[in-house]
Amino acid sequence: MRTPIIAGNWKMNNTVSQGEALVNELKPLVEGASAEVVVCPPFTALHAIGKAVQGSNVKLGGQNLFWQKSGAYTGQISGPMLADVGCEYVILGHSEARGRFGVEEEGMTEEMSQVFGDTDASVNRKAHAAFEFGLTPIVCCGEMLEERKADATDAIIARQIEHGLEGLSADQVSRMVIAYEPVWAIGTGEVCPSEEANRICGLIRSTVESLHNTDVAQAVRIQYGGSVKPDNAAELLGKEQIDGALVGGAALKANDFAAIVNAAR
Ligand code: PGA
Repeated sequence: MRTPIIAGNWKMNNTVSQGEALVNELKPLVEGASAEVVVCPPFTALHAIGKAVQGSNVKLGGQNLFWQKSGAYTGQISGPMLADVGCEYVILGHSEARGRFGVEEEGMTEEMSQVFGDTDASVNRKAHAAFEFGLTPIVCCGEMLEERKADATDAIIARQIEHGLEGLSADQVSRMVIAYEPVWAIGTGEVCPSEEANRICGLIRSTVESLHNTDVAQAVRIQYGGSVKPDNAAELLGKEQIDGALVGGAALKANDFAAIVNAAR
């Protein structure tokens, strides 16, 4: 049996005091939940939120990392730094970190979006680094709307998983988390139909099976992400291949996030 995992990706939201208020409200609401609960604040709030969740069942995750341990990498955060402030998880290869946005950003040119810069190869390197420094990666994959319209979804997902997981051991893949996040569903309110989300999560599981074996495929946890809300969570989380959710907007409200956590059985 796979334990469901619900992770809240706060993205570029919440100062320290706002984040503390949010987790202090959240903790009693998710106490005793059957799902694993993770919050992923921005780097600036990690230390404080790590302290605020101590002694509760709420775990901490980072939103990205750089693969080196330390050194001259201005603006980057390493795995040991995340572990030092209490992170157990790290989100890698989120579409926003790849510069792939579902919602048009005013004034964001193709060239500017490269600032975000992750690729399948960098995500892979980061996944190796996460394990090296004792963190569990949540590796994201997902297609853009144009790719879906061009019938390229399945091939894109398979490519992102094959490359993103390259060289990871069977044991590592068994313990990691993969998030299927169709880019067109992120922050748009347009959730992927549960049948289709279930189909793609199944495709990810069979890709893992072909890279490793059935045991690994049955162990790896696969989340769905993209406009998960309290009113659609139970339906998505009830699907056989969906082991949890990666939640953006709804993770910013304690009641909404708790309702999603408590929808997971
Ligand atoms: P959303 O974001 O729930 O706001 O759509 C999900 C994500 O990007 O992880």
